[in-house]
Amino acid sequence: MEHLASTTWSDVDRTQHSSRIIDYLDLLRSQPPFQRMKERTFEWMLEAGPEQILDVGCGTGADVIDLAERLKASGTARVVGVDRSRDLVTEARSRADAADLSVSVEFRTADATDLDFPDATFDAVRTDRVLQHLDQPEQGLLEMIRVTRPGGRVVISDVDHGGLMVDCSHPMLMQRIHHFVEAALTHPWIGRRLPVMFRDAGLSDLRVDVQVAYLSFEFITQMVGLSEVMTGMTQAGVFTKREAGALAEDLNSRGASGRWYAGIPVFIVHGRTVAS
Ligand SMILES: C[S@@+](CC[C@H](N)C(=O)[O-])C[C@H]1O[C@@H](n2cnc3c(N)ncnc32)[C@H](O)[C@@H]1O
Repeated sequence: MEHLASTTWSDVDRTQHSSRIIDYLDLLRSQPPFQRMKERTFEWMLEAGPEQILDVGCGTGADVIDLAERLKASGTARVVGVDRSRDLVTEARSRADAADLSVSVEFRTADATDLDFPDATFDAVRTDRVLQHLDQPEQGLLEMIRVTRPGGRVVISDVDHGGLMVDCSHPMLMQRIHHFVEAALTHPWIGRRLPVMFRDAGLSDLRVDVQVAYLSFEFITQMVGLSEVMTGMTQAGVFTKREAGALAEDLNSRGASGRWYAGIPVFIVHGRTVAS
C-alpha cells in the first residue's frame, strides 16, 4: 500500500526502499494500458519536432530515454529529466549511460515547483503521475509553463483515483478501500481537474484524452500485495477480520477464475503556451 501513498512519492529516498519503487515503476510501465497512455503523451510532445524536452518527476528516466531515442539527432537536441529523488536520478543516469543514445540526455535533482532553468528553455515539457503528489499542483503547472518557450507544448498525464472501478461481490466494502486509497493521496482527483487547470493557466490548443487503464489481477497483487492491504486496513480499523477475509476471498477467487475487471481513468492533457 505504501507504494501508492503520496508520502512515499514526495520523498522516495526517505523510504529506503528505492529498489522496490524502481521495480514498481518498471512494472507499471510494462502494462499495455500505461504504455498506450505514454505513447499518446510522446505523440503530442514530439508533434512539432522539438529540440529541447523536459520530463518533470522523471523517476527511473525510462521515458526520457524513450524520448531521446525518438528525437532526430542534432547538435542542439537535448532531453532533460528532473526528479526530487537522488536515488531515482542516480538510477536514471546509469540507465542513460547504458543506452546508446545519439541525443544529449541530462538528469538533475529538482523540485517540480522550483525548477532551476531560465524562462522559455524548452520546446515541450511533460510530467506523468507526479502532480497528484505535489502539495501545490497549480504551482507545478505554472513552473512547467514558465520554462516552456512561447508556443511550446505542455503535456500532463495523471490518474483519477476517484474513478477506480473494481467488480466485486462486496461493493460497500470495496468503497472503504477507495476511501482509504484516496485518503493516502494528496490529490486523488487530480485527473479530472487538469483540463480546467490548463484553461485557468492560459494554455491554448487544449486536448483531453481520457483512457481507462485496465488493471489486471496480477498487476494489482504485484503492485500492492492484496494480503498486505487487507492486513493494513484491518489494523487501521477499516475492516473487521471477517470483512477483510470475505473481500479477499472474493477478489482472489475472481482473480483465479478470470472473472475479474478493474480499471482506472487516466487523463492526458495537452496545451500550448501563448505564442509571442
Ligand atoms: C509515480 S512516480 C512517476 C515517475 C515517472 N514519471 C514515471 O512515469 O515512471 C512519481 C515521481 O515523482 C517524483 N516526485 C514527487 N514529488 C516531486 C517533486 N516535488 N518534485 C519533483 N519530483 C517529484 C518522485 O520522486 C517520483 O519519481
